[in-house]
Parts: sequence; C-alpha cells; structure tokens
Amino acid sequence: MTYTRRDALRLAALAGLGTALPRGALASEDFQALAARVAQLQLLPEGYPETEVWGYDGSIPGPEIRLAQGTRAQRRLLNELPQPTSVHWHGIRIDNAMDGVSGLTQDAVAPGGHFDYDFIVPDAGTYWYHSHNRSWEQVARGLRGALIVEEPEAPEVDREEVLILDDWLMDPDSGQIDDSFDHPMMMSHGGRTGNFITTNGQYNLSIPARRHERLRLRLINAATARIFPLALSGLEGWIVALDGMPLPEPLPVTETLVLGPAQRADLIVDITAEDGETADLVQQTEREALSQVAFPVGGSLGNARRPAPGALPPNPKMHRPDLGEARKLRLVMSGGAMGRMQSAVHDGSRKSFRELVSAGQFWALNDTVGMTDTPLAALSLGEPVRMELVNDTVFPHAMHLHGMHFREVSGDGALGPMRDTLLVGAGESREIAFVADNPGDWLFHCHMLSHAASGMTTWMRVG
Ligand code: C2O
Ligand code: CU
Repeated sequence: MTYTRRDALRLAALAGLGTALPRGALASEDFQALAARVAQLQLLPEGYPETEVWGYDGSIPGPEIRLAQGTRAQRRLLNELPQPTSVHWHGIRIDNAMDGVSGLTQDAVAPGGHFDYDFIVPDAGTYWYHSHNRSWEQVARGLRGALIVEEPEAPEVDREEVLILDDWLMDPDSGQIDDSFDHPMMMSHGGRTGNFITTNGQYNLSIPARRHERLRLRLINAATARIFPLALSGLEGWIVALDGMPLPEPLPVTETLVLGPAQRADLIVDITAEDGETADLVQQTEREALSQVAFPVGGSLGNARRPAPGALPPNPKMHRPDLGEARKLRLVMSGGAMGRMQSAVHDGSRKSFRELVSAGQFWALNDTVGMTDTPLAALSLGEPVRMELVNDTVFPHAMHLHGMHFREVSGDGALGPMRDTLLVGAGESREIAFVADNPGDWLFHCHMLSHAASGMTTWMRVG
C-alpha cells in the first residue's frame, strides 16, 4: 500500500537505518534474487488460454523460502513489474526496517529497482511473504509465497506438505484476472473473493499417499478475502501450531477449522482412508463440501496408527501478558455496506459517508479512515497491552498485527494461543493481549486486503 501522506515520517525513519545493513554492490554476492515479474501460466484447466499473473520469480506460488530457526534471510527483491512494489514477511518477529510496508517502513521499490531484505528468523513455524504495496491488487495478481522456518528438531512425520490456499477472480471469457481491483462493491462488502480456487496454484491438487502415513500439513490462507472452513475426510489429526506459533498441546481436529485470510495452521494428520480410497482436505462451506486437496491412497505404511504426536518445541518469547498491568485499548470497526457509519475522519477532516464513498473509502477504525500521522497508540518497549476489538459492521474482518503475536483473551480472562491474525465475526467483540516487545512502527489492519485499502488500516509505535 502507498501512504503518501506519511512521506516525511518515512524518510526520517529511513535516514537512521540505511547504514546498518549490507547494501549495494557488496551485498549482491550474498543476496539471492527474488524477482517480482509478469508471467504467463496455465492456471485455468486445459482448453483455457494461459493467464497473465504477477509472481515471485514468475511462479505461482512464489518459490518456497525455507530457513533454519535463528538464521538469516537475505533476499534482493528485483522489481520487474510495471508498478512499484515491496515484500512483507508475514508473521515474522522482524526488524522494523525489513517489514516491507511501503510508506511506513520503506519506500516502494520502483520498476527496475531493487531492495535488499536482510533479517533473522527468530521463531520456527509456517509464515508467508507477499507484496505490501497496492497489496489488494498485487497479492490478487499472484505475489505470494511460503516462508517456512524449521525447528531444530522436526516432529516425526513421514513427510510434509506446504499447502497454499488461494483464490482468483477470473474473467471466464478471456481467462484473465479480472482487473476491477478497486470495485466499490467488493471493497464495501466482503472483499474480493475469487471464482476460481486453487492450492499451490493448482485447482485439482492431488497428492498420492499411503494408509497410515503421517503427514505434516502446513496450511496457509493466502487469499485476499476468502475464509476457508476446512474439514478432514479419511484423515485424522491434530493442530500443532497456529499462525506459526506452536500450541502447548496438540489439539485434535474434531470440528471445522476456520482459516481466515493470512492465517496459518500446522496439522499433523494420519491417513486413515483405506487402500484404493481417497482422503481429502475438504472445504466445508454452508452449502457444500468441496475437495480442496485430494490424497488418493495406494498401499499402506505399517498396519496400525501411531500414538498421538507431542507438542512442537515452544518458540522464544512466547509471552503471557500480565492483564492486570496491561494498558487498555479499544478498536471499533465501522462502515461498509449496510453499516451504520454516517461520517468519519479522513485525511484530517470529517467527511460524510457519501463523501468517503466517492473517495473510494468505506471503513473506519475508531472513527478514522486509513492511515494517520500519529499512531493509534504509542507503546513503551515491553509494555503489556490489551485491546478490545469491536466489530460494528455486518462483515467479518481478519485483523492482523505486524511484528508481534498476540493472544486472545476469553471471557474468564484465560489466554488463548499466540496468533498474528484474528478473524472477528460480524457484530462480534473480541479481546487480544500482547507484550509490545518489538520496537518500531507496526501496521494493524484488516487482511481482507480491499478493506485495508479502503479504510481499515492503522498503526502503532513501540519504543
Ligand atoms: Cu500479511 Cu500487512 O500483511
Ligand atoms: Cu475487513
């Protein structure tokens, strides 16, 4: 996204940062290229033409980036697109300068330009990377990939599959991506949901498996607005991590697992379907059950199920914020179609809903549309925070905090698992708590990316 109003702030921030990191010609030997470019791919079934996509290294999804926990990632983004771009490393407890938010932590990289991303990955888990400039368009065009950080000791499984769930809004006549990215109807409703659903860029992904095989599935919802309600068929297993962070105990999958935009879940599953049958990861919508990924079963591995897996090793700094000490914040989401919003502050002045609509803005956080010069909150380093999230709209929102994970606070004050994105249903109120332990300017926004572009973006300063 571009936040031109904050140029002065951004430039001030960059001035202090440019020198600490290896850059320029010297760095080129160490930095592996990651080229954002236009490509033609057979995305739709045979018989349709190739589709023009924007992909990292021209591929859909982008190349998998896999690192050992605690090591350093060095990637040189080469912008070969016709638009400025930047890369955000979603869920990584990263150095603020490397967070990839154009207009807040860096300048967008102009076409033909490059930017060196250099950061440590402190936490093991399933993360992802995506464009963070005009993201509602650029992610929808394909700029997304998996970022996997391996535990020093991996859990015992026979193999692992990274499954990137996404969707595309296609023009069925031309076979090309629908380019009405700023369409008011999508922005003011549930966001841009596609009409063509894929896993790892394939609409019919099929992974042969054997009965009693144990798999780790790393699920990533990379769609710009779609919520995936998921179920298992011929597979039985446990959730072992959410949004990259290990759960204290594996949680058996007994009900629908709802994955909002940008959320991840690590599952350990056993193939329980018989030889000759097909197991499925199922997309369980209200109306129908669709196979998201098929696992045709051929042969078997041993003849019995294994005992339940243990928990993944915890990551460092999995804080449990002290709720009694915590600063209290409240964030009210309003606006959208069929909402109650009459007016809100935009670019420093109060505007009627009608004026906002003509400016392409539909949503507000605490009565304010989009980015502001001053942060929603200025937190001191190490400060515990609790924040009530009030959804006063008729749509769900996937609220994502950059740079730090939070825990949900339940009614009785218990703390849930660590997450970086929380799906808040229409009309719901939820509460999160976190320790502001990562210094810098951090975005907090809805990951329905057209909502983020039309008002649902704010930021907090730590330290
Ligand atoms: Cu995954 Cu600000 O985004
Ligand atoms: Cu939203």
